[in-house]
This record gives sequence, C-alpha cells and structure tokens, in this order.
Amino acid sequence: MRRLAIVTAGGDCPGINAVIRAVAKTAMNDYGMEIIGILDGFLGLIEKRWRKLSYGDVSGIITLGGTILGTSNKANPFRFAVGKRGEEAEFADVSDEAVANFESTGASTLIAIGGDGTLHIAHKLSEKGLPVIGIPKTIDNDVDCTDFTFGFDSAVATATEAIDKIHTTAQSHHRVMMIELMGRYVGWLALFAGVAGGGDVILIPEIPFDMEVVARRVVERSRRGKRFSIVVVAEGAKSVAGDIVVQRIIKDSTDPVRLGGIAELIAREIEKRTDLETRVTVLGHLQRGGTPTGFDRVLATRYGSRAAELAAEGKQGVMVALQGQDIVTVPIADAIARLKSVPPDHDLIKSALSVGTSFGLP
Ligand code: F6P
Repeated sequence: MRRLAIVTAGGDCPGINAVIRAVAKTAMNDYGMEIIGILDGFLGLIEKRWRKLSYGDVSGIITLGGTILGTSNKANPFRFAVGKRGEEAEFADVSDEAVANFESTGASTLIAIGGDGTLHIAHKLSEKGLPVIGIPKTIDNDVDCTDFTFGFDSAVATATEAIDKIHTTAQSHHRVMMIELMGRYVGWLALFAGVAGGGDVILIPEIPFDMEVVARRVVERSRRGKRFSIVVVAEGAKSVAGDIVVQRIIKDSTDPVRLGGIAELIAREIEKRTDLETRVTVLGHLQRGGTPTGFDRVLATRYGSRAAELAAEGKQGVMVALQGQDIVTVPIADAIARLKSVPPDHDLIKSALSVGTSFGLP
C-alpha cells in the first residue's frame, strides 16, 4: 500500500488539523493510501519519531486549534543545534540523516505544512531528492504566490474581536489605546484587523510612519470631540527615523529574530507629545490559538485535498496556492523567492485612507 507522510512545522495556527484531516481522508478514501504523521515538525524526522494515523485519528479534528502532530521551530535539518560551545549553540547539517529517515518510513511523498521557514527547508530537502508538496500556513500571510495562507483569516478574526473590546475602554476612559499585533516583517494582519476594527491609525512595516503625524492625528481627533483613538501597530512597524524593534534572539531557532515592543515605544512618545493618556495591549499568541474560522476550514480542506491528489499523481516540488477563486500549484522555489509584503498601493490601503484612517504618513 502506498504511503504519504505529513509534517507540520514552525509556529502553529488555526486550521492545521483541518489540513491534516483533509490530506489524510482524501488519501485514504480516494487513493487507498496509508498516512504517517511525523511528530514535532522536522525534529521528528531527525529523531525518527512518527506514527501511523488511523481514520479515527483524523476524524472530528476540523475545529481543533494547534496541531495533533506537534511542531517545532528549532529543527532545521540543514542547521540543527547539536550542542553548546560555551554560551554559543553548535550547529550541524543532519539533512542526509533526515532524508534517510524519511526513506525508512516507506512514504512516497512528504506533505510539508508550514510558513516561509518550513517551505525553505522543504525546498532544500526536495533538492536532495526527497519528494515534497508544500501547503502554505501562517497567520502572517507572507508566503508569496498565494493570495492567502490558511490561519490568517482566523488571526484576523481574533485580532478584530480584541480591537472591538479595546474600543469600549478607549471610549469610556477617553484614552489612546494601542494594540500590537504579530505579522513579522509584513503588515497583512495589522492592515486587515485594523480596517475591520475601525482603527484610527494603522502602522505597518511597509509604510514607515512619522511620529509627529501620529501624535497630531490623535490630538486632532480629540479636538474634534472624538476623545479616544485606536492605534493598531504591526510588530514589525518602524518609524521613518527609527528601526524595527527586536524583542529577543532565539539562537537555536530556524528564524532567530523575535520582534516586539514597538507599541510601547510609540505610546511613550504619544504621551510625551500630546499629554493624552495612552495604554498598550500586546495581543501575542492569542492570535495563533483557538478554532479556525469557516473560511480557514474551507481553505484548509481545499489545500489538503489537492495536496493529497498531487501526491497520488506523483507530483513533487510544488506548493498548493489560492489565486483568485482557484486552488493552483506553484513551484515551491517561486513561493520562497521573496516575502509577500503589502504593496503600498494595495486597494485596502486606498480604502482605509478614504474612510479617514491614518498610516502615519505626512
Ligand atoms: O510566524 C508566525 C508568528 O506568530 C509571527 O507573527 C511572530 O513574529 C512569531 O511567529 C512568534 O514566534 P514565537 O512563537 O516563536 O514567539
């Protein structure tokens, strides 16, 4: 019987289990395949940890957050932390072992569910002869060649609900309320949730902001009788004069840089320049948790079924993607060639400007 292996790697997000379910059920129902679940991301491939998934294992999980297989963002087979020399981690290339271990599973294809980092690893493994099919997953929506990654819509829903709740305190206490959202180096999440939540100011990495303009905007609102403001900030936002704010470096991680802290810096500046009381909420990992939205469940099901179909047809080195209304396939190499950032002329930016939202531009 033919076998398919699934790995879920990098940060978790809503919809991963819905994808696992769709891949596994399609492969079992339509192609009579067996499914192997690699445990804890690529760590399981390196450490030879996997298990066979039964139909029961993948039943009733479409609503479940996280991943039933576990994940890791510290297990790049091409740069794997094998020990420590003093304070510094020591790395080794264990990709040959990873490929050999994959072969010992008896699977013909590896379905790699992940974001930018995972897809880079998947691509390098496929160059070593391991047949891979990618499925784009991340709340950041920064994978190129696809309109949407799954997980993004759920994160937008969570962040929008949070902004709605922050609105009530902003109104009652006549404060400037800032909310810092994830998204790494791109502003999709802050843009979508900021617009959906009626943010007065939205700050994203793609549009460096002018601090004086932000301060002036909240003062103007207060003079016009709107005695509060909502400022939505992407963790990767930066001012024209400043730089991106790094919260910490996790040395043995696939992508060591962790962003965070920009909202607190802006809040202190707003208070200094305006005398308006300003508070900060950092939404953090709440954005990655919980059940997927209907949109993400549907997208996950479409991605998963198509990936299983492609594997059954013997395709490899490709990623499933959403372009317009269609699920298409693109070379993984194209999807990882660059990060998909928000084009400054995106129609949602134009619409937001038209309804009076500021991006901190002079
Ligand atoms: O890529 C998803 C993401 O949630 C980013 O938005 C965020 O910058 C990062 O992961 C946080 O990573 P960690 O969970 O390792 O802190």
